[in-house]
Amino acid sequence: MSRSTNLVLLGSTGSIGVQALDVVARLRRAGKAFRVVGLSAHTNHELLAEQIEAVRPRVVSLATGEGARWLRDRFPDVQVLEGDGGPAELAALEEVDVVVNAIVGAVGLAATLAALSRGRTVALANKESLVIGGPLVRAALERHGGRLIPVDSEHSALFQCLDAGRKGDVRRLILTASGGPFLNLDPAARASATAEDAFRHPTWSMGRRITVDSATLVNKAFEVIEAHILFDVSYDRVSVVIHPESIVHSLVEFCDGSILAQAATPDMRIPIQYALTYPERVDTGLPRLDVAALGCLEFRRLDEEQFPAFATVLAAALAGGSALVAVNAADEVLVGRFLHGDIVYGDLAIGLAITLDRWRTEVADDGRPLDLLTVESADRWARSIAAGLRFDHR
Ligand SMILES: NC(=O)c1ccc[n+]([C@@H]2O[C@H](COP(=O)([O-])OP(=O)(O)OC[C@H]3O[C@@H](n4cnc5c(N)ncnc54)[C@H](OP(=O)(O)O)[C@@H]3O)[C@@H](O)[C@H]2O)c1
Repeated sequence: MSRSTNLVLLGSTGSIGVQALDVVARLRRAGKAFRVVGLSAHTNHELLAEQIEAVRPRVVSLATGEGARWLRDRFPDVQVLEGDGGPAELAALEEVDVVVNAIVGAVGLAATLAALSRGRTVALANKESLVIGGPLVRAALERHGGRLIPVDSEHSALFQCLDAGRKGDVRRLILTASGGPFLNLDPAARASATAEDAFRHPTWSMGRRITVDSATLVNKAFEVIEAHILFDVSYDRVSVVIHPESIVHSLVEFCDGSILAQAATPDMRIPIQYALTYPERVDTGLPRLDVAALGCLEFRRLDEEQFPAFATVLAAALAGGSALVAVNAADEVLVGRFLHGDIVYGDLAIGLAITLDRWRTEVADDGRPLDLLTVESADRWARSIAAGLRFDHR
C-alpha cells in the first residue's frame, strides 16, 4: 500500500493542533507519508497562514469572513471555507482517511459526527464530542463503521493496556490525575485563586480551557465519561487516582489482580502519534523516559470533597438526558468568565452546581433519547444561565 494517508486537522492552531503538525512532520521524516488535505482554525488566520505555507493543504476553514478573505488573497490556490460549518465540511471531504479533531468545546461535536457518518477514522482530542454527544457518537459508529482512536493521553493509555487482555476480563479502568496546580493548596487559598494561578500547571502545557478544567478536575470527570463511552465500561468500574508526576497515564486492572499501566514522558505528541500510526509504533525521536532517573512516583486517593466540580459533572452524567450538555456549556461560559477575571476559582464549582440544579427543575429531559436539536437547545439554555450568574460572596 503506497498511497499516503490523507488527513484533515481541525483546530490546527491550538495546542494539540500545533503538536499534531509536528508529529506529521516527524512521521514524514521517518518515511510515513501523511498528506494534510485540510486545516481549520477559528480566528487565528496568521498562524493558519504559516501552517498553509508549511503543509500546503487543498482546503482550509476559518470562522471569520475577514480572515478568510485575507487568506484567499494570499493563497489563491487554496480553497478557503468560512463560517461555523467549515470544520464539519472538511471532516466530510471525499478524499479524507483520518480526521484529527482538536477543536476545543461543544462545537467540535458536529465535525466528529460528520466524519463518523462517512465511516472515517477520527483521532479524537475534542473530548466534548463524547461528553455531550456520547450516545450520538456511539450510534454513528455502529451505523457507519467508522473508527474512533483516542488522543487524550489517559485514554490512549487505556486503549493500549486494553489491547493486552480480553474485554470480559477487565475489572477496572484507573485514570491518573495530576491534581492540577491547586492540589496542595489550602481550601481558602484555592477558593480565591485566579486564572494566572491556574496557568502554573505542574506537568502539562495545554490550551486555556483544559488548563482551567484541570485545576477544577472538571477535565478529569470528563475523562471518566470519555472512558465510559469509548470502552463501554460502567461508571462504577472507572476510578481516578492522583499521580502528580503525570508519568503513568492510566492503568487497567484485570480480574486476576494484574494491573497494566502505560508510562511515558508527559508529551502529548506521543499519544497523538500513536493515534495516527495505530497499531504500528514509529521512532520519530520523541522524548524517552529514563526510568532509572525517575526516583519515586506518587499515587494517592482523590479527595473528591476538595474538588466539588468533579462530583457535579459526574452527577450530570448519571442524570442522563441533556444534563451533561448543560453542564459542559455552563463550564465553557464560566471558564471564559474566570479567564477574564470576572469570577474566582471557587465560583466555577458553585456555578456548575447551580446549573445542574436548575436543569433538574427546568429542563429534566432525561426520559428522551438525545438528538442534535436537544443538544443545541440545552447548550443555549445553559450558556445564558451561566452568563447571568452572580456570586453573592463577591
Ligand atoms: N492541550 C492538551 O494537552 C489536550 C490534552 C488532551 C485533550 N485535549 C482536548 O483537545 C481539544 C483541544 O484542546 P487544546 O488545548 O488544543 O485547545 P486550544 O489550544 O484552545 O485550541 C483550540 C483549537 O480549536 C479552535 N477553535 C476554538 N474555538 C472554535 C470554534 N468555535 N469553532 C472552531 N474552532 C475553534 C482554535 O482556533 P483559534 O486558534 O483560531 O482560536 C484552536 O485551533 C479540547 O477538547 C481538549 O480538551 C487537549
